[in-house]
Amino acid sequence: MIIRSSDYAISAVREDQYPKNDLPEIALAGRSNVGKSSLINSFLNRKNLARTSAQPGKTQTLNFYIVNKDFYLVDVPGYGYAKVSKSQRAKFGEMIQDYLETRENLRGLIILVDSRHEPTKDDIAMYNYAQYLNLPILVVCTKIDKVKKNQVNKVLANLKKALDLSYDNVTVLTYSSVKKLHVQELGNWIEQRLQ
Ligand code: GTP
Ligand code: MG
Repeated sequence: MIIRSSDYAISAVREDQYPKNDLPEIALAGRSNVGKSSLINSFLNRKNLARTSAQPGKTQTLNFYIVNKDFYLVDVPGYGYAKVSKSQRAKFGEMIQDYLETRENLRGLIILVDSRHEPTKDDIAMYNYAQYLNLPILVVCTKIDKVKKNQVNKVLANLKKALDLSYDNVTVLTYSSVKKLHVQELGNWIEQRLQ
C-alpha cells in the first residue's frame, strides 16, 4: 500500500462522535504501552501523528486517523493499565465494546501483543472477544526488535499456546516500529480488508 496522505481526523468517546462518512475502518487494540500509536506512526511514516509515550495510558479516546482520504485507522485506548481507576477502566471497556460491536464500517481488528511477554489474560480475552464478533483479525507481535533472532520462533510458539490461531480469519505478523519491520505486510493485510 502506498501512503499518499495521513491526518488526524477526530476523537470520540461515544457513537454520535464517530466520523459521519462511510469510509471503512481498521481498529487497533492491545494492552497499554504495547505500541499501538507507534505502529500507526511507523506505518504512516509519520513521527508524531499518534501521540506515543513511555508512560502507559496515553491514548484515552478512540482516535481516528484518515489515510489516503480512503479509510480510517482507529487507535483504541489500551487495556490492562493498573493505574487507571476501576470506574475509568469500566468506562474504557464500554467505549471499546460499543465501538467494536456496533460499528458497521469496521473491516478488521489489529490485536497487538508484546513480543517480550506471553499473552496476558487481557490479550486472550480480547482475542476471544474479537473471534466472537467474527472480525478479521491481525495479531501483531510488537517490539520484535527487542527479541533475539533465535527466540522469535519461541514467541510465535507461546502465542499459539495462548491463542487458538487455527481460524482462517486470523493472520499473525511480527512487527517493529523502531526497525520498520513488516510495514509492507501490514499494509497488504489492510489493503485486503478494504477491498
Ligand atoms: P497507550 O496509548 O498507553 O495504550 O500505549 P500504546 O500502545 O499506544 O504504546 P506507544 O505506541 O505509546 O508505545 C509505548 C512505548 O513502547 C514507547 O516508549 C515506544 O517508544 C515503545 N515502542 C513502541 N513500539 C516499539 C517497537 O517496535 N520497538 C521498541 N523497541 N519499542 C517500541
Ligand atoms: Mg497510544
